[in-house]
Amino acid sequence: MKETIIAPSVLAADFSHFAAAAADIDDSGAEWVHLDVMDGRFVPNLTFGPKLVSDLRPHSRSVFDVHLMTEDPGSLIPAFAEAGADYITFHVEAAIHTHRVLTQIRDLGKKAGVSIVPSTPVSLIEELLPFADLVLVMTVNPGFGGQTLIGECLEKVRALKQRREQKRLSFLISVDGGINADTAPSARDAGVDVLVAGSAFFRAGDKKALVKLLKGI
Ligand code: DX5
Ligand code: ZN
Repeated sequence: MKETIIAPSVLAADFSHFAAAAADIDDSGAEWVHLDVMDGRFVPNLTFGPKLVSDLRPHSRSVFDVHLMTEDPGSLIPAFAEAGADYITFHVEAAIHTHRVLTQIRDLGKKAGVSIVPSTPVSLIEELLPFADLVLVMTVNPGFGGQTLIGECLEKVRALKQRREQKRLSFLISVDGGINADTAPSARDAGVDVLVAGSAFFRAGDKKALVKLLKGI
């Protein structure tokens, strides 16, 4: 069994100390930094743009996992690719020509991710699966950290895992929202490859211990 990848979200960090947050992630045993980009339109909150990503890049050894919660994601993708994102994930609910957006990300040399909110079924992204490197299943309604995981969303992880096997594909399955030491086991049981954790990570006194708990090792 492959170890679960942990992706702490800097949304829960102190925004006046992003470099320190990146260092905490590097030191914790987590592999990815999850960067939540919010535009105040697709979700009712605002965070940061590509400048933060490029400024943070030299302060981190981790994979940069950019989660775009924005309208018209295609218009922002070149800037985030240039800024040093490794994975760029957009919401299927925010775009019309979603296959084009996935292709755009791959053409820029980046890993392409597509995300679904709790009310969106897996069937809506069925045709996109061969073109995705990552599927991000939201386990809360996006926009804010510190919410409670909606357990029913984990059924979508099971369905995606089944589709991946049937179609012999290799995309990673990630979950985002309400992940902590109590909820991580059910997400791992469902078959996730990547766990995003914001509040749980930045609240933890012993981050190395928390990462081990999340990984179940
Ligand atoms: C929510 C964001 C999440 C958020 C998760 O819209 O996409 O990445 O940081 O926060 P927690 O882990 O606190 O639920
Ligand atoms: Zn996120």
